[in-house]
Amino acid sequence: MGMDDTKDLELPKTSKHRHSILIIDDEDSILNAFKRILADGDYEVHTASNGLEGLNKLHTAQRPYSLIISDQRMPVMSGVQFFTQAKDIFPDAIRILLTGYADTDAVIDAINKGGVHLHFTKPWHDEELLLYIKQSFSKVEILQENKRLIELIKNKNDELLELKKTLEKRTRDKTDDLLAQTEKLKESYKKSQIILDGIVKTLSKIVETRDPYTSGHEEQVAKIACKIAKEMKLSEEQIAAIHVAATLHDIGKISVPSEILTKPGRLSDLEREIIKTHCKVARDIIINIEFPYPVAEIIFQHHERMDGSGYPRGLKGDKIAIEARIIGAADVIDAMASYRPYRPALGVDAAIEEIVKFKGITYDPAVVDACLKIYKNTGKNKLH
Ligand SMILES: [Fe+2]
Repeated sequence: MGMDDTKDLELPKTSKHRHSILIIDDEDSILNAFKRILADGDYEVHTASNGLEGLNKLHTAQRPYSLIISDQRMPVMSGVQFFTQAKDIFPDAIRILLTGYADTDAVIDAINKGGVHLHFTKPWHDEELLLYIKQSFSKVEILQENKRLIELIKNKNDELLELKKTLEKRTRDKTDDLLAQTEKLKESYKKSQIILDGIVKTLSKIVETRDPYTSGHEEQVAKIACKIAKEMKLSEEQIAAIHVAATLHDIGKISVPSEILTKPGRLSDLEREIIKTHCKVARDIIINIEFPYPVAEIIFQHHERMDGSGYPRGLKGDKIAIEARIIGAADVIDAMASYRPYRPALGVDAAIEEIVKFKGITYDPAVVDACLKIYKNTGKNKLH
């Protein structure tokens, strides 16, 4: 509610309220008597000498009349005839009829047709009439205040309803807007996911083309690593990171000459050192893609070993990310199980034997246990 609204709530000050009174009588002496009686009150007194003139005054009134007093016996129209019309012009006004002793029928008519509240028989007692008028005005004032309050409440209610409607519409519009935006974001996220997946697959294919003997190795490592991660109950996010990192783990071999990668015989120390650079090269390539998880760092660590015997930094134990420890084991399992130019495929059994032999030395015991569980529960074909 604004500051201006509080003004509307103030009630009219009743003590200063001026009432309008209309008195109709064909006798000037009666009109003068009323003017005299009412002179002390804060009233606006109007007079008319017959009903028609009285009706004209009602029709042209600037403000509603609170009290109308009319004589019954007048030329042009009777008091009852006058009130029959007057009550429709100002229905809230108090209506008093002045009658003679013999006007009983007129009184009944006045009550029924003219809506007259009271009748006074001439001559009346001034005090009694004045008291009645004052009481009537109090009633009128209460009624007026009531009416005003009801009107005020109605207006405020209407305003509130309007406000509620506007707010509801705005909320609906905003909600629709947000839903549409969320839908768009979801769509765009889906698209960027598809693009990212495409990039990952493409990069992986590039490495494969340089070393056809290891074709499918990345995909296979990703599969084994994810199975281990699920067995170890890693989070969805970690499993997604492992999938991407495993798929790209050997991307750094792009900088290793093909002759070294496909060399059938034993590698020289220098050649081995060149191969070892693939971890850093991979990290430097992948760091440019903003993955939602630390893919570059995981790849950088995939040749680190628990006892610090790995490369490139010789990290130990917990210093190696769990994702990298899993990919490292999966890498060895697939490499041993598959054919290489310098040796035949050794098989999954040999691979498992190898990681069990070095459990807790080079391989994370929890990772080895997970591998064994998958291997025993689902058979070697499920692991590789
Ligand atoms: Fe590697």
